[in-house]
Amino acid sequence: AGNIRMKVTIFGTGYVGLVTGACLAEMGNHVLCVDVDADKVARLDRGEIPIYEPGLEPMVKRNHAAGRLEFTTDAAAGVAHGHVVFIAVGTPPDEDGSADLRYVLAVAKTIGQAMSGYTVVVNKSTVPVGTADRVRAAIAAELAARGSQATFDVVSNPEFLKEGDAVNDCMRPDRIIIGSSSERAVQLLKTLYAPFNRNHERIVLMDERSAELTKYAANAMLATKISFMNEIANIAERVGADVELVRQGIGADPRIGYHFIYPGAGYGGSCFPKDVQALERTARAHGYEARLLGAVEAVNADQKRKLFELIARHFDGALKGKTVALWGLAFKPNTDDMREASSRRLMEDLWNAGAAVRAYDPEARAETRRIYGERADLMLCDEPYQALQGADVLAVVTEWKIFRSPDFARIREALRTPALFDGRNLYDPEAVEQAGIAYYGIGRGRSL
Ligand code: UGA
Repeated sequence: AGNIRMKVTIFGTGYVGLVTGACLAEMGNHVLCVDVDADKVARLDRGEIPIYEPGLEPMVKRNHAAGRLEFTTDAAAGVAHGHVVFIAVGTPPDEDGSADLRYVLAVAKTIGQAMSGYTVVVNKSTVPVGTADRVRAAIAAELAARGSQATFDVVSNPEFLKEGDAVNDCMRPDRIIIGSSSERAVQLLKTLYAPFNRNHERIVLMDERSAELTKYAANAMLATKISFMNEIANIAERVGADVELVRQGIGADPRIGYHFIYPGAGYGGSCFPKDVQALERTARAHGYEARLLGAVEAVNADQKRKLFELIARHFDGALKGKTVALWGLAFKPNTDDMREASSRRLMEDLWNAGAAVRAYDPEARAETRRIYGERADLMLCDEPYQALQGADVLAVVTEWKIFRSPDFARIREALRTPALFDGRNLYDPEAVEQAGIAYYGIGRGRSL
C-alpha cells in the first residue's frame, strides 16, 4: 500500500481537523482544510498553529510548503475539492449536556448545496448515535431541493487522538473504526487509510451506529477507570492504606492493566466530561438510566474539590489572606488546554475563600490569562520557583515533567508554612516530609 494521492477536504481546523489534515497530507494526499474563522485560516496560512501540540507545527509547515495542505474559508470550494469530505467541527454540550449538532448539520447542509460528483462524507467529530443518519438526511434534502442526482455515502469514522500526543496517535492509530454500510465508501476509506494500517489489520468495520457508540464507550470506559481509582483513593485514605501501592498491586493483572488507573485531582479536558455526560443523555433519551455514568461524573466532580478540601483543612478553614502556589494549570501535561481543568475549580474555590494564587504552567499561562483576565488574586509566574515566593503552601495540579523531581530544600525555604499538596501523587511522601515539608497526597492514608 504505497502513498495513494487522494483529494481530501476537512471541515473544522480544531484539534481533530487540523491533526487529521496534517497527517493525511503527510501521507501524500492533497488536503484542503475549511474553517469559518477567517482569522484562523489566515494564521494557518502563515504557518501559525493556534494550539500547542508537539510535532504539529513542523508537519503543518512542511506539507503547506509542499502544496499538499491548504486552508480556506470557501466552503463550496472545499466541497468541490474532496472526494472524501471530513466533518471535524465542534460538538459543544448544549444546556442539558447533550452534544449540540448545529455545526455538524450546518456543514452537512453546505455539502448538499455544493456537491456534484460521488462524495464520501465522513463524521470524524464525536457525535451521538444516529448522527450519520441525520447528516445523510440533511445532505439528501439539499440535493432534492436543487434536483441534483449526485450520490454520496455517510461514514462514521471516530477519532481517538489524545491531546499532547495527537500527531503520534494519528500517524500510528491502534485501531481505525470505519462505520459504513456502503461497500464503495468502505473501499475508498480503506485506500485512504492504507498507509496508517501497519503491521497488522487495524481497521474494524461496522455499521454507523456501532461506530458512533464505540467512541463514547471508549471515553466512558477510560473515565470510569479514573473515577473508580479516585473512589479507591478515598477509601484508602480512610482506612490507612496507600492507593499508590494498591494501584501497582492491581495493575499487574493484565485484565486490569497499568494504564489510566492514576488517582488524582480529577479528569478534565474537552472530551471525558462532555462525552460521559452526552452518553448519559443519549441513554436517558432512549429510556435507560445510565447509573454507572452518573456515578463516574459525581465522583469526578467531588475529586476536583479534593485539593481545596485538603488545603482548607490544613488551615482549619482560615484561608482568607493566604497565598497558594500552583504548579500546573493545563488539564494535563503537554497541552495549553484549560477546558474543564481541575486547576480552575481549585483556583475558583480558593478565590471564593479569600485566598490568592501564584501559578506556574509551562504552556497554559496565556490561556489562563485569557480566561480570568488581570486580577489581584492571580499572579502568573514565568518560572516554577518564582510561584513560591511569598506563598504559604504549594499545590501541584498537573504532572508536567519539570515538576517531577523538584528541589525540596528550595521549596521549604520559599514557603511560609511548608506544605505540599500533591494532586497527582508525584512524590514520595517520606522524601517530602524528610525535607521538612508537610505532605498531602490523594488517597495516601499511610502518609497522613
Ligand atoms: C481523551 C482520550 O484519552 C482519547 O483516547 C480520546 O481520543 C480523546 O479524549 C477524545 O475523545 O478526543 P484527552 O482528553 O486528550 O484524550 O486526555 P487524556 O489523556 O485522556 O486525559 C484526560 C484526563 O484524565 C486528564 O485530566 C488526566 O489528568 C486525567 N487522568 C488520566 C487521570 O486523572 N488519571 C489517569 O490515570 C489518566
